[in-house]
Amino acid sequence: MDERMEKLKAASGYISGLVAEKSLKLPQLLVTLGSGLGTFAQGVEKLLAIPYREIPHSPQSTVDGHAGQLVLAREPKSGENFWIMQGRVHFYEGYSMFEVVFILRTLILLGIKKFIVTNAAGGINRYFNAGDFMIIRDHINFMGTNPLIGKNLDEFGTRFPDMTNVYSRKMSILLQKVGNELDIPLKEGVYIADSGPSFETPSEIRMMERWGADAVGMSTVPEVIVAKHAGLEVAGISFISNKAAGISPTPISHIEVSENAAKAEKQFSALMARFIELVLEGKDE
Ligand code: HPA
Repeated sequence: MDERMEKLKAASGYISGLVAEKSLKLPQLLVTLGSGLGTFAQGVEKLLAIPYREIPHSPQSTVDGHAGQLVLAREPKSGENFWIMQGRVHFYEGYSMFEVVFILRTLILLGIKKFIVTNAAGGINRYFNAGDFMIIRDHINFMGTNPLIGKNLDEFGTRFPDMTNVYSRKMSILLQKVGNELDIPLKEGVYIADSGPSFETPSEIRMMERWGADAVGMSTVPEVIVAKHAGLEVAGISFISNKAAGISPTPISHIEVSENAAKAEKQFSALMARFIELVLEGKDE
């Protein structure tokens, strides 16, 4: 067996063992929480919390504000279970792309079918303000690499996966409905990922703006490519934590990004809770 598959199977075996020990049902949905957006996980009923460091071969996050655990949560209204990745590892931390998407792939082996991914991003679109939410309509991979490089793992998908309709229209429409219902305005746009960890220069932001990008960040795209490779239904939400370089009147700081995310926490949690409930009830189908 491919060495990568061996590692993924060791990790999925470990997790499924813990799930079976408690006679829990394996979820079909995964939600990944971005920078500073982790407190949503504090409000949910946790059936299981697995620190990444206990998962065989799993990398661990090194950034502040990323707790680094996998939570099996129960959604109270539908009674269904879902996974939460509370914290993720980033390419800029020095991990390989294989490591960046490791836990996601492990959960794909354990049967997830839907993926909701969230992140904090800089606003490129001049109509966006810090504190806005953006439904990701499409992305631009400007990381200079791709998580599918290397011998294809046929267990997940084909060598040259199509990326035409990566973000589910049905899930985006449902998310818009939730935004209307909760009176949280949601923007929509294109997310561009670079490798980081330096923030962009104003010239880079001008270039990205001309390319059609509305928000910029340092995550999400690798996971989404891997999810689409494996045929998952994907929804993405960016929290606009700051205006991007050159658009912002002040320099960008990680502290500003985290503080603004913390301020939006309540709205974000309400949005996620209702969206997850409806997705688990199959309202996106
Ligand atoms: N650039 C890149 N990543 C980010 C930003 C930004 O301005 N804000 C939050 N994540």
